[in-house]
Amino acid sequence: MVDAVQAVILAGGKGTRLRPITADVPKSLVPIANRPLVSHQLRHLAHAGVTDVLLALGHNAEQFDRVRYFAEALGLNLRVITEPEPLGTGGALRWCADAGAFDEDRPLLWLNGDVVASPDIAGLRDFHVDRGAQVTFWLTSVRDVSAFGVVELGSEGFVERFLEKPGPEETDSHLVNAGVLMLDPAVLRRIPPETFFSFEQGLLPSLVRERQPLYGFFEGSYWLDIGKPTSYLAANRHVLEGRIDWRPTGTLAEDGLWVGEGVNIDGLGVIRPAVLGDDVKVEPGAQLFGRTVLGSGVTVRKGAQLENCVIYDDVEIGHDTEVFGSVVCQGATIGDNVVLDRTIVGARTVVGDRNELRGARLWQDARFEPGVISVVPA
Ligand code: GTP
Repeated sequence: MVDAVQAVILAGGKGTRLRPITADVPKSLVPIANRPLVSHQLRHLAHAGVTDVLLALGHNAEQFDRVRYFAEALGLNLRVITEPEPLGTGGALRWCADAGAFDEDRPLLWLNGDVVASPDIAGLRDFHVDRGAQVTFWLTSVRDVSAFGVVELGSEGFVERFLEKPGPEETDSHLVNAGVLMLDPAVLRRIPPETFFSFEQGLLPSLVRERQPLYGFFEGSYWLDIGKPTSYLAANRHVLEGRIDWRPTGTLAEDGLWVGEGVNIDGLGVIRPAVLGDDVKVEPGAQLFGRTVLGSGVTVRKGAQLENCVIYDDVEIGHDTEVFGSVVCQGATIGDNVVLDRTIVGARTVVGDRNELRGARLWQDARFEPGVISVVPA
């Protein structure tokens, strides 16, 4: 029974690589197809029959309050534990264990709060229990392994080697730690208490050297983490394309078009897939060219063109403005005849008319006068 599994979601990181998106919003609450990422994870856990879930948080814990109500509606028993200061992945797990958060006799599913995946939890649990494992990695495969923890597997999925962020030619393996692991909670005793400690760098290499029962489970299903802006955009796009069973907000008005309340889609220039939040207004003559997410209260003026972008709540996009491959955070105002190409605009920032930004990141609460910037990297 999957309900024997207890789960912990680590969501207390700083999310520095995703700034300025994470300047206001913790990475696990960043919206994917208009829903906080962690809400998708909670829904998956609930559907898989997991009932006991712990959120391990650091700063910004109060921002997770709305997630508690969502978890309750899903029938989950959600607990929240906050660290006094970030303790790293291992330190956070040990902190929770010391607070009595885990039952020692139940497998512990550890999910990183930035992972977009729908792992087969029952399959992973059975694999883990059958082998009497201390740690079972739910693995994914990537071409470039240099930013990941790579595992080399022997027979029955036994982990022969683990290399955190290997250099070129250190390994031929393309199987990596996906940030989804099943643990025997007893392994957490090996982490020093109340100390900053990385589970991946501090403990996993020693466990593998000692040939402890560590295993890798490879299912081959969808996986992405939203650590970087490009992967964040890709995750939104992939959810819209149905590559993973995570649902956008709104109702499905047509195949690939999710629409919130108070939105008139008559005569709307939209290539699907797209998600339109509540009270979105797209003026006649504006074009949504596909793979676009508009949050609640967004206004898109006439002649604007948007493609492959994520626009947060209460943003205004001016007329004849082009937004491609970009993220515009909450409450930002983009003027007329602006170009945003592969650009991140922080919350509440104002970009005046006739500015052109390609490959830029604009911090939150900034103000750019009309016609002052043309950032075009070589
Ligand atoms: P970057 O600063 O961009 O590297 O992001 P990050 O701080 O979130 O680090 P990373 O992507 O390596 O974290 C992976 C997962 O672990 C994320 O879901 C983080 O929220 C979580 N995490 C990282 N460090 C801590 C911590 O000290 N405490 C807790 N509770 N979670 C953490």
